[in-house]
Amino acid sequence: MKKQCAIVTGASKGIGLAVFRRLEDNGYDVLGLSRSRGALPEGKWIQCDITDSESVDKAFEEALERLDNHIDVLILNAGMGISGALEFTPKEDYRRQIEVNVFGTTACAKKGASLMREQKKGRIIFISSLGAIFPLPFQSFYSAGKAAVNALSDALGIELKPFGVETCTVMLNDVKTEFTANRIKTYEGDDIYGGRIQSSVSKMEESEQKGMSPEKVAEAVYKLAIRSRMPSHKIVGIGNEFLGLLYRILPTNAMLWLLGKIYG
Ligand SMILES: NC(=O)c1ccc[n+]([C@@H]2O[C@H](COP(=O)([O-])OP(=O)(O)OC[C@H]3O[C@@H](n4cnc5c(N)ncnc54)[C@H](OP(=O)(O)O)[C@@H]3O)[C@@H](O)[C@H]2O)c1
Repeated sequence: MKKQCAIVTGASKGIGLAVFRRLEDNGYDVLGLSRSRGALPEGKWIQCDITDSESVDKAFEEALERLDNHIDVLILNAGMGISGALEFTPKEDYRRQIEVNVFGTTACAKKGASLMREQKKGRIIFISSLGAIFPLPFQSFYSAGKAAVNALSDALGIELKPFGVETCTVMLNDVKTEFTANRIKTYEGDDIYGGRIQSSVSKMEESEQKGMSPEKVAEAVYKLAIRSRMPSHKIVGIGNEFLGLLYRILPTNAMLWLLGKIYG
């Protein structure tokens, strides 16, 4: 029987690496795309900067050649985060945020969509955040980017349904990775905002570092890859699923008041 084939973006470390390993341990022929090889095994890494369309073209061309023009699962995980007050965030930082998390993800989703539509089968899993539905103060651009990712996943899922292709957006809360250290932060205006930028971002960083392991996320992603049908949305962790339930039942103003109390 032919091996299942997968591509994971942002696989050099963190969640992407854990997903790569989980799939490989379960018999998948899997390739990891990222700018650096990180901890990926030799021969399983394809260099790719998802914000550079030439690099994306080349990486997918090489990946498809190596996977015999077949992908069962594409995991769109590569991403980064920025923080700061919206009014003081430098233009290059918020453009970069959207360039990586939205346009870079879109470039890779397009590759997966074309191939899977033709093969009439496949799954695209977008790694998103609870920030998509709970907009985080002082992380407005990150939240906006992940809200866009959710919408892309949902709309693409409808477009591709007649072709047998499914999409799912996986909304994560805190995961202990280098994401926290890699965040691009600006504290400009913190004096005007009464120290709220610093305190909100520190609180977030602390809870990220106490968060779940990337392996737990990888387990959830693997289960999505093998179940008979994927849900459109998946929240990982029982406590986080409860937050998802709260989102559905709380009036918007109550939800925003609560977010303000915690992170405002
Ligand atoms: N950690 C959390 O608490 C958390 C919570 C919710 C959602 N998420 C989401 O989970 C995903 C993975 O995050 P993580 O926690 O694993 O972070 P991480 O440890 O910092 O890993 C990020 C990965 O993305 C890759 N990447 C970044 N920019 C890239 C680019 N331009 N082109 C190609 N690859 C790029 C990095 O590889 P290179 O640097 O080698 O390119 C790396 O492999 C992200 O989408 C993030 O938004 C994380």
